[in-house]
Amino acid sequence: MLYRVIFASEAVGSTGASALSIAQILGVSVANNRRDHITGCMMFHRGHILQVVEGARADLDRLLRRLREDPRHTALRILSDAPIAARRIEHPMDICADPTRLLERVGLPCLSQVTANDADVMLDLRRAA
Ligand SMILES: Cc1cc2nc3c(=O)[nH]c(=O)nc-3n(C[C@H](O)[C@H](O)[C@H](O)COP(=O)(O)O)c2cc1C
Repeated sequence: MLYRVIFASEAVGSTGASALSIAQILGVSVANNRRDHITGCMMFHRGHILQVVEGARADLDRLLRRLREDPRHTALRILSDAPIAARRIEHPMDICADPTRLLERVGLPCLSQVTANDADVMLDLRRAA
């Protein structure tokens, strides 16, 4: 059984604001997620972070434990955690290239009030792009 977890968090320091900070997260995420058969995508926007991950329960729970201990972000909140019939993300970890455009499409000025439904719509828009 596969699950999809959607969560938001708040960046600490330069997390998400510098290319280096994103590259560091991406490097580890791609390697670990490939190993754990997790697929996902991530959006950084003005100090807020949105992430969607898909995979088996035990692998996602282990990832969530690591994420909760990571000082590069804080205030992690789960927006949705539910079983899925099929994956909607193909790669171990994608970064959303144009967060402002996607947020505009769902009518959000920023990610502070983002809901699981907004994240779902943005996943569809991203696939259609
Ligand atoms: C916003 C954010 C997203 C992250 N996403 C992932 C992820 O999808 N997969 C992952 O393995 N680590 C991710 N990490 C890193 C983990 O928090 C943790 O540092 C890492 O998994 C530790 O891996 P290691 O035990 O192999 O060193 C993320 C970190 C941040 C700040």
